[in-house]
Amino acid sequence: MVPTPQQFDVVIIGGGPAGYAAALHGGLAGLRIAVVEKEKVGGTCLHRGCIPAKEFLETATVYRTVTGAKEFGIEVEAPVVQFAQSQARKQKVVDQLWRGLQGLLKKRKVVTFAGTGSLGPDHLVRVDDGTELVGTHVILASGSVPRTIPGFDVDGRLVLTSDEVLALEKLPSSAAVIGGGAIGCEFASMLSDLGTQVTVLEALPKILPGCDKDVADVVLRSFKKRGMDVHTGVNVAGHTPSADGRSTTVHFGEQDVTVEAVVVSVGRRPLSENLGLEGTGVRVDRRGFVEVDEYMRTGEPGVFAAGDLVDTPALAHVGFAESIRIVDQILGDPVVPIDYSKVPLCIYSHPEVAIAGLSEEAAREAGYDVVTKKDPFGGNGRALIVGEPDGLVKVICEKGPDGKAGRILGVHMVGPWVTEQLGQGYLSVNWEATPAEVAEFIQPHPTLSETFGETVLALTGRGLHVG
Ligand code: NAI
Repeated sequence: MVPTPQQFDVVIIGGGPAGYAAALHGGLAGLRIAVVEKEKVGGTCLHRGCIPAKEFLETATVYRTVTGAKEFGIEVEAPVVQFAQSQARKQKVVDQLWRGLQGLLKKRKVVTFAGTGSLGPDHLVRVDDGTELVGTHVILASGSVPRTIPGFDVDGRLVLTSDEVLALEKLPSSAAVIGGGAIGCEFASMLSDLGTQVTVLEALPKILPGCDKDVADVVLRSFKKRGMDVHTGVNVAGHTPSADGRSTTVHFGEQDVTVEAVVVSVGRRPLSENLGLEGTGVRVDRRGFVEVDEYMRTGEPGVFAAGDLVDTPALAHVGFAESIRIVDQILGDPVVPIDYSKVPLCIYSHPEVAIAGLSEEAAREAGYDVVTKKDPFGGNGRALIVGEPDGLVKVICEKGPDGKAGRILGVHMVGPWVTEQLGQGYLSVNWEATPAEVAEFIQPHPTLSETFGETVLALTGRGLHVG
């Protein structure tokens, strides 16, 4: 007898942030949910991305703090990096979060199936072990993998992507980081702080291309001050491994650099090739993204897609937000589509970067007449106390009819703990507040967030310290 497929309210393919957020949200509302996951729930973010990368960046912070302790009158021996211990700590953090997530899914009665799921007609999801599931609704959330470039075959030894860097037992003495975007800058920063000689090779004219130029310039200055070699506007032509296979020479333009490892961080691509989809109305574009409308609906009624699989910012919190909206629709609740121009973005390099809304360049390109103001952290008491005066807050506003700063279009920050300070900027941008409205709020003293407060005050023409 042919077994009948198991029935669920929602079948989710992929247990990363987009998939597990849908499962948790739907499970809480009493929906019967199945998740098909080929590796571990938590996905790239938990196992090969955000969490492990930030854990290593924290290791770099500890190293920097100990190295700089003397300035505070604390005498310590020169620190030594035991990267295997850093790996063990990272794994402990990841495993604790993984256990927590599994426990939560279980508590919400989510059933997980191990394997690769593919979707066929009539909402039938087939797991590669033969199990068949049918969902009244299906959510595709199979995520993404690192993109590579021709001439740089990833071998896990000389050529690495983020997946391999995060599994290293020992750091290379030198590395070329290809791509100066979010991942490239985080890895360059971490490796350099922990003693690797780093060369960054970026194809575009500046690193962190999506960031405001004033913000990217602070990161660039810091990288150069710490001894990194940063080349922008370069075309990477390939590499030649040494005879003993212990190093390789990377060719770019007329120049070469010989390194122990090459880190390829040129973006990620959607993982849609194993999803089946024959006989369904789900469409995949030529880059591999599953096509969705603003409500995350695919061309097949009842089938949605979310996270890195769709062509929206490849950020865990965007995946969460998309999935929550999908489940709310399934529940019949009203939903407002996401305004992707206003989602927050944090980069955990040293110095950190935090962004909400448009950069000055993007605002001008979009046709806005703008008024901007920058305030450096160098004048902030707390920044001097913690010994991190490099950085600034920049607020970008639409110019009002009176020529003064109107609606806040963007808040771009770089400097100490800005990733934890973005909240006010995010709310200002999304509430379309004006500097005068935000300047009414009191900032506690002494805090790093006074710099944001001071910037909006200055935009009203009443800055206490900034003109
Ligand atoms: P990305 O798109 O942010 O940056 C890739 C960089 O590589 C770009 O600057 C691009 O111009 C450059 N590039 C492309 N091809 C090149 C070539 N052949 N030679 C030299 N440079 C080249 O992608 P990234 O950094 O790999 O990150 C992937 C995704 O993950 C992004 O969507 C990013 O936003 C997200 N992410 C988010 C983080 C966060 O929120 N903290 C951290 C890390 C990644």
